[in-house]
Amino acid sequence: MSLLKVEGMTHYFGGLRAVYNYNLEIEMGQIRGLIGPNGAGKTTIFNLITGMYRPTSGRIVFDGQDIVGLPPHRIAARGIGRTFQNMMLWRHMTVLEHVKLAHYSRIDYGLVGAFLGTPRRHRQEAEIEERSYELLRMMGVDRFAQKVITELPYGAQRRVEIARALATQPKLLLLDEPTAGMNPEEMIEMVDTIRRIHGVLGMAIFLIEHRMRVVMDLCETIQTLNFGEVIAEGTPDEIRNNPVVIEAYLGKEVVT
Ligand SMILES: Nc1ncnc2c1ncn2[C@@H]1O[C@H](COP(=O)(O)OP(=O)(O)O)[C@@H](O)[C@H]1O
Ligand SMILES: [Mg+2]
Repeated sequence: MSLLKVEGMTHYFGGLRAVYNYNLEIEMGQIRGLIGPNGAGKTTIFNLITGMYRPTSGRIVFDGQDIVGLPPHRIAARGIGRTFQNMMLWRHMTVLEHVKLAHYSRIDYGLVGAFLGTPRRHRQEAEIEERSYELLRMMGVDRFAQKVITELPYGAQRRVEIARALATQPKLLLLDEPTAGMNPEEMIEMVDTIRRIHGVLGMAIFLIEHRMRVVMDLCETIQTLNFGEVIAEGTPDEIRNNPVVIEAYLGKEVVT
């Protein structure tokens, strides 16, 4: 059984067909990529999988359960973590608070524990703080733990966002353009980091990227989306040499 199976998913925004007859299967632990020019429908696919929008038609089965119609927090709790193309970080919280808060979506004190501050609760708090530090270390941003998020350089903010997504202990991690706005050196570091967290935590990853180089380095197979439809799917080599892909990118992106 695959971890995620999307079948015949279509989505309209009013009269605009943003995603058409989209299919995807991801196995446990796989890294898969999604590329395509701006406006192709990539982020919309993430928004559909994570319950931000409900597909006009189609099925999404995650970990054996149909998740269409579930609210985003329930889908997150079932094991789909994500980052956003435009970061959604609370401006005034510290880095550590961000990652700690994400952990809470996974635990349940029971009402009594929450009110009384039981030993069990204190123990849980301490564990959460320890785990949060560990994730920040893994992402290479633990030195910023006590800083307010907006004081961090852009690249570090993106790393915190990934740490936050990891705190929900996802079985599937969706990364929307994790190297956006980064210079080539930062891009290479980010690719290394993604490879490392995958090596340590072993979750499946579905990656949207703009830069061919990143998906080519990381992904087992890649889908190319254009005007909401998959126009090519295959290994990095197959995608690199596919004339249909090159055509879709011509004049829009640099194919490197
Ligand atoms: N909430 C929305 N309402 C209306 N149109 C939208 C909305 N979100 C995205 N779109 C449109 O859907 C298409 C796909 O957008 P998007 O999924 O963001 O593309 P990508 O991530 O591939 O750049 C674009 O034409 C975009 O303008
Ligand atoms: Mg996008």
